[in-house]
Amino acid sequence: MERLNRFLARSGVASRRGADELIAAGSVLVNGERPPPSGVLVDPDRDTVTIDGRIVKPRTRHRYLMLNKPVGVITTARDEAARTTVLDAVGEEGLAGHRLFPVGRLDADTSGLLVLTDDGELAFRLTHPRYKVAKEYIAVVAGSPRVSDLESMRTGVQLEDGKTLPAEVEVIGFDPAAGTGRTEVRVVIREGRHRQVRRMLQAVGHKVQSLRRIGFGPLKLGRLKVGDWRVLGEGEIEALHRAVGVEPR
Ligand code: URA
Repeated sequence: MERLNRFLARSGVASRRGADELIAAGSVLVNGERPPPSGVLVDPDRDTVTIDGRIVKPRTRHRYLMLNKPVGVITTARDEAARTTVLDAVGEEGLAGHRLFPVGRLDADTSGLLVLTDDGELAFRLTHPRYKVAKEYIAVVAGSPRVSDLESMRTGVQLEDGKTLPAEVEVIGFDPAAGTGRTEVRVVIREGRHRQVRRMLQAVGHKVQSLRRIGFGPLKLGRLKVGDWRVLGEGEIEALHRAVGVEPR
């Protein structure tokens, strides 16, 4: 629910004070009835607001969620094989009546940060190669990558669909269990080709054993637990818009 004058201002009808004047003048009806001059609370999804008989439509309020996608959950809106999708993962409460869809993809065997929204324009830009949105991953790989392996990933590796753009790559840890020969590597890419991080590491000789996304543009996964989701904060939504050259309203 929101105050009528705020609803009118948000719909671009007038300033809040201007809206108060319209309400006081009796020009505004809510579900066909004249509200008191002090205004009233309206439900933007249910109530019909008119000014001099013309329906006022608010700008749509989009919904933005961050999900920590578990391994095995499919990044698609609907799965023919009836496997669990990212929409199932956020459930009715996450959807809250919105037609959410995932922004970009994570493989079934990749976990981590995935944005869901019904803001098509923002989603389009966030996944468009032109905007080069940074995607940050932690990969656990077999063996110990050499400096030259990391260096070739930094400059670009040749894959069957072309050479990759320069990536940020650093070793952040060695598996403490001696002999297992696993290494934790942080990788930041600015493209989004199919299984790109896995293929880049494989190309330099290090098979990925697990992959987790911890950053997407200005967003960080932080302490969100696997399988949990949360609504993005205003500051995060603004930062996402700025990252793709849209001035937030
Ligand atoms: N790179 C991969 O290999 N897999 C993903 O899910 C994302 C990036």
